[in-house]
Amino acid sequence: MNVLVVGGAGYIGSHCVRQLIAAGHRPVVLDNLVFGHRAAVAKEIPLYDVNLGDEAAVGAILEKEKIEVVMHFAAYAFVGESVAQPLKYYFNNVSATLHLLNVMLAKGVKKFVFSSTCATYGIPEKMPIVEGSPQAPINPYGQTKLDIENALKSVAHATGLSFAAFRYFNAAGASEDGVIGEDHNPETHLIPLAIAAAQGKAPALKIFGTDYPTPDGTCLRDYVHVDDLARAHIAVFEKLSTPGASLFFNLGTGTPTSVREVIAAVEKASGLKVPFTEAPRRAGDPPALYADSTKAKTELGWKIKFTTIQPIVDTAWKWHASRPNGYKA
Ligand code: UFG
Repeated sequence: MNVLVVGGAGYIGSHCVRQLIAAGHRPVVLDNLVFGHRAAVAKEIPLYDVNLGDEAAVGAILEKEKIEVVMHFAAYAFVGESVAQPLKYYFNNVSATLHLLNVMLAKGVKKFVFSSTCATYGIPEKMPIVEGSPQAPINPYGQTKLDIENALKSVAHATGLSFAAFRYFNAAGASEDGVIGEDHNPETHLIPLAIAAAQGKAPALKIFGTDYPTPDGTCLRDYVHVDDLARAHIAVFEKLSTPGASLFFNLGTGTPTSVREVIAAVEKASGLKVPFTEAPRRAGDPPALYADSTKAKTELGWKIKFTTIQPIVDTAWKWHASRPNGYKA
């Protein structure tokens, strides 16, 4: 398939591009390089430096590259920033995405794969989270993702667009060959920050909250390898042949892992100590979030290669050890 990967130079998008090639598809990248990295995309892959909300430019790419499926990874994803600057999130994550859908329909491209998030569930009452759990986001970031999920349902019903929305838990790790990895600026995620602290590149890691009602007092999250996420996006293609398909899947390993367990995994992978301090809770952090991904496993045949935290962190360490400055030379 000819696949337009919107946000294909970003963390999850760039891993998906490589998995598409491995599966015999032809990816084309659209990325305005605000957060994406040109170096994350192999030179032979077409890369268009275009805004996803620019209907004229996107329409021309859809035609020229004979695109059959669009995958959309290009969202702003800093939860704290979304609280402080909600309009930025509504313009980019909602408004620009609606333009993308509009031009897709105008050009007759009717298959769409959307990056959603477990943040659409807010603070769930029951664990693990199933797709039918109530969705009540607690920040604008999660709300913008839910808004697009809802728009997609209506658009699919009205037009026959078929789509899959994947609700990721904590995307983590890097390509197994160490060629691409996670490089956010600013970095807010636990694993890269713990690695940077171990390497002496960042201050001591702050553990946000040690008094949670969890076994070791720190938050539990469901870390899922970025290549496992990517493979689910490709496994869904067959289902998108049904016009109007409206599909939602959780993607997580289902294994709850604490902040202290992540630190231990980084220490084991690196052979270094992770300096840390115990800090107050971070606003908006639910104590535990982990997935029931039975639906993706049974309906898509999704097989998780990285089922525990250590091998995930090992791949992250491999990338950060060989590229201490990320994509910067
Ligand atoms: N944490 C720390 N110290 C840090 C950074 C994180 O203790 O310096 C803790 C957090 O409190 C949390 C865990 O590590 O308990 C994971 O935090 P991340 O920031 O790595 O990830 P989140 O779980 O907050 O965020 C992820 C996605 C978001 C998504 C969110 C949904 O990265 O995009 O899940 O809750 F919105």
